[in-house]
Amino acid sequence: MPVMRSQIVGCGSYLPAQCVSNADLAIKIDTTDEWILSRTGIRQRYIAADGELTSDLAAAAARHALGRAGITADEVDLILVATSTPDDTFPATATAVQAKLGITRGFAFDVQAVCSGFVYALAVADNFIKSGQIRTAIVIGAETYSRILDWTDRGTCVLFGDGAGAVIVRATAGAATASDPDSAGILSTHLHADGRHRDILYVDGGPSSTQTVGHLRMTGKEVFRHAVTCLAAVAEEAVRANGLSLADVRWFVPHQANVRILEGVARKLAVGPDRMIMTVQQHANTSAASIPLALDVALTDGRIQRGHLVLLEAIGGGLTWGAALVRW
Ligand code: UT7
Repeated sequence: MPVMRSQIVGCGSYLPAQCVSNADLAIKIDTTDEWILSRTGIRQRYIAADGELTSDLAAAAARHALGRAGITADEVDLILVATSTPDDTFPATATAVQAKLGITRGFAFDVQAVCSGFVYALAVADNFIKSGQIRTAIVIGAETYSRILDWTDRGTCVLFGDGAGAVIVRATAGAATASDPDSAGILSTHLHADGRHRDILYVDGGPSSTQTVGHLRMTGKEVFRHAVTCLAAVAEEAVRANGLSLADVRWFVPHQANVRILEGVARKLAVGPDRMIMTVQQHANTSAASIPLALDVALTDGRIQRGHLVLLEAIGGGLTWGAALVRW
């Protein structure tokens, strides 16, 4: 069997129509634009309309990505939806997306790794491609966090937003080679989890525990501390595994939780914050959707170019964290 690598050949995104500024929130919640902006960098977030489901956001982002890649739905072998806000407990939101895209072939399932979900799902798709089992995957991060926020808890509800992003991943002949700028594709993925930290970021409900959906609970300072440490460590792990250095990475596309976290990671890695793609200001924290949303912004505005080395990395509830090093 020939050696295959995974190439990202298209990216797309979708944001709900309703944009809510910090000032809008301050009308209903005991908060201020100044507090949110200074602690997080967030200026606004998008909120899904009543009846607009995670699968609707995901399908819209997937259509956008398919169009950009010039790929038709009948070429798709695998649909992965990274989400912790699925439409229902089951079936998987990915199967709803499959139906909404009019696809009747292949297979589809959800990946649940909270804010790390997109990196986890990309790793799953990469491994299915490298093993020769599939040729084309849609990897989607999609969330409606507005539905699991406790809108009376000002310490969490101001931080999150809804949205979706998607990439099309295709099999390409030949191994991904770190030293060859012409060999576009995923060079490596690195996944981690440590379930001992469950209680610093979780949802206090679920089908087996409470038979309710529950609300997001977070000890912000603890998550902040782990985020800076783990994001810096996994970035170093990814470049080292490929015989590269941080200086070789053109763009860092981290999970978008807080500008201060990203600046902390940049400082720890001694890389200029101008090499970090930051979209949390416009989107807030969209959990598994944040990396593909940020990718779409940086591809559309022309910052990420063919041949660039791009490091995607995330941390989220679990704790889970991980990275993917990609030659564009
Ligand atoms: O995807 C990963 C998930 N989460 C994250 O990445 C979040 C990680 N953590 C963080 O980003 C930060 O810890 C936060 C933004 C959540 C909080 O920033 P902080 O600098 O750690 O603030 P704090 O929790 O120490 O809060 C300080 C004060 C408190 O008041 P007192 O007790 O000092 O009087 C809070 O009551 O800020 C108050 N506060 C607020 N004030 C106005 C908390 N939330 C708000 C609010 N508006 N929305």
